Amino acid sequence: MKLITIILIFFLINLSKSQSCDKFLEKFKDSNKCIQMSIAGSHILNQAIDTYKGNLKYNNVTNTLEINGTLTNLQSYESICIDGLYQPFSAMDSFIYKDFKIFSNGTLRINNVFFANLVCFPNDDFVYFKLNNFLYSLSMRAYSSCPILYFGEACILSTPPPTTTPTTTPPSNYNIKFENTLNSQWEKNNTLFYQFTTILQNNENYAFSSIEIVNDGKWGVLEAWNLNKLENGNYGFPGYVSKIEPKETFTFGFVSTIRNPSFTIKSVIKA
Ligand SMILES: *[C@@H]1O[C@H](CO)[C@@H](O)[C@H](O)[C@H]1NC(C)=O
Ligand SMILES: *[C@@H]1O[C@H](CO)[C@@H](O)[C@H](O)[C@H]1NC(C)=O
Ligand SMILES: *[C@@H]1O[C@H](CO)[C@@H](O)[C@H](O)[C@H]1NC(C)=O
Ligand SMILES: *[C@@H]1O[C@H](CO)[C@@H](O)[C@H](O)[C@H]1NC(C)=O
Repeated sequence: MKLITIILIFFLINLSKSQSCDKFLEKFKDSNKCIQMSIAGSHILNQAIDTYKGNLKYNNVTNTLEINGTLTNLQSYESICIDGLYQPFSAMDSFIYKDFKIFSNGTLRINNVFFANLVCFPNDDFVYFKLNNFLYSLSMRAYSSCPILYFGEACILSTPPPTTTPTTTPPSNYNIKFENTLNSQWEKNNTLFYQFTTILQNNENYAFSSIEIVNDGKWGVLEAWNLNKLENGNYGFPGYVSKIEPKETFTFGFVSTIRNPSFTIKSVIKA
């Protein structure tokens, strides 16, 4: 923290030593490149955070860097509450601009309205500008083709959204999948209880004869069927299971107070 303060003071003292951005902008004057740009700003009075991301291309006729596609603006003002946590920068509430330019004289224009002058430090490792009480830093990098922004553009879900069958991702150390089906739920003593049937699938390329699943707060098991409670409180296979072959499944059931339980495997023993 102290170091950051010292660095900040150093930067502020050295503002007068900053120079024009000719050299910095010169590096991006190539019409065959796509220039990815990000801007992050903090409001000097209310501490709001304002961010922009977009791909630029150099127009060799007008000598300007122009937005290729759209510029996405996400702000900490636009926040939503998900799972009990404020999520700032809600992409649903993003602002999309089609006009963004950086002129060769270092002036930047957002949405035809806002103008600001870029300031570059001598070795170009810090480029900043001030606008509407925000202090912004800007960075750019040239690519042969436009990289994805990962900043509010449309995407396709790689997994189906959770329905009544929440599916937990396999733990990283073992490729063993657990698929839960919620059978019923009830309330008792102001607590909600959930009863699940779970299909375990062996996606490893080996068979295993034994498993130890950790009884932790993410699973929250209170009682189980087709699983044996071990002396240390974790759970394992009942005696009649000899081995689970690759791709084979095994079904068990349990009651938990967790709505979306997940499993941690402590160990397996190869058959
Ligand atoms: C401007 O860029 C285009 C490609 O986008 C190129 O064909 C043209 O020769 C360039 N003109 C100059 C003056 O560099
Ligand atoms: C830079 O150029 C733009 C476009 O020609 C102009 O609007 C702006 O005022 C210029 N900025 C400075 C600092 O001269
Ligand atoms: C600009 O974006 C379009 C698609 O929106 C893409 O086809 C094109 O290659 C991009 N320009 C550059 C210079 O990468
Ligand atoms: C009900 O909840 C209270 C406090 O949460 C606890 O003291 C009590 O033992 C619970 N009763 C039963 C039957 O679980």
